[in-house]
Amino acid sequence: MGKQSLKIALNKLNLKTPIIVASGIFSYGEIDIGYLDYKKLGAVVTKTITINPKEGNPQPRLWETPSGMINCIGLQNPGIKEFIRKKLYSANIPNVKTIVSISGESVDEVKKLTEMLVKKDVKVIELNLSCPNVNRQNLMVSQNPEDTYRFVKAVKEICRSKTLIAKVSPNVTDITETALAAEDGGADILSLINTLKAIAIDTEKRGVIEGGLSGPAIKPVGLKAVYDTYQKVDIPLIGIGGITTGQDALEYILAGASAIGIGSALFSNPYIADQICETLTVFLERNNLKNLSDATGLLNEKNKTGAKKSRKKH
Ligand SMILES: Cc1cc2nc3c(=O)[nH]c(=O)nc-3n(C[C@H](O)[C@H](O)[C@H](O)COP(=O)(O)O)c2cc1C
Repeated sequence: MGKQSLKIALNKLNLKTPIIVASGIFSYGEIDIGYLDYKKLGAVVTKTITINPKEGNPQPRLWETPSGMINCIGLQNPGIKEFIRKKLYSANIPNVKTIVSISGESVDEVKKLTEMLVKKDVKVIELNLSCPNVNRQNLMVSQNPEDTYRFVKAVKEICRSKTLIAKVSPNVTDITETALAAEDGGADILSLINTLKAIAIDTEKRGVIEGGLSGPAIKPVGLKAVYDTYQKVDIPLIGIGGITTGQDALEYILAGASAIGIGSALFSNPYIADQICETLTVFLERNNLKNLSDATGLLNEKNKTGAKKSRKKH
């Protein structure tokens, strides 16, 4: 291989590769997944933490579909105090950044979570504004741009010197509206997308499984979210949704992602990080590009016209 570099800087967040394990996949990063080549990972996002412990939803919580899976884990987690006591420090994988994911039902809750993490010197926080499984009666925060702005602003005021990632939901008419609201609120990076609302019918048990769809089925939705959002915001994007091959990751980068998150694919392909690194390096070589950042948004309309679409500030 040549001198191509997969190192990437997303604002202040420097990663040795653009590959991020998405939230909810590797618990808190404390489990050593023997088969995985950690050298290929840039960061791991921990399972979303809430103020109080959550038992999550009753089984079944995972349901396979022809091109992905529906999960309705329901944010099972031990709560912030137990997380800090038992998980936070064991989550340190050498040379892989830890990103702590939090979620709350009110601004006060997310502020409290952030205060506790800042006291422990956590450097990168992902604010999950898009969990579809917690309270099915209520909207997710990121289904409303005003709420998105309020939550992000409140958190950023507390973690000024830290990196704040806002993770937004695809279950909206126009994801760029919430993306812009998060940027205006002070987010340093955006993660998009989380799962799409879906159901499965269990004919044997006569039940309905309601949760979030992930995996290959949602890749085109995630790609469009990244493509459209890249045209409107100035902050870097982490593209997530259905990345199963190196080619998928490359498509996200060319659409406008600076880094990519992998979720469901890690359930079945332990070599995916190696494959992504290989595909991206070959692409850079063939196109005489030195850095991965040169490939970000290469096929996005924004880089053809150079024009940013007009926008309304929050
Ligand atoms: C079993 C499972 C648990 C998840 N838990 C979380 C979570 O706690 N917080 C979060 O922000 N996203 C969670 N997600 C969503 C993923 O981080 C990711 O956004 C989504 O699965 C789309 O990526 P994929 O198609 O590569 O799986 C979860 C996904 C799965 C499959």
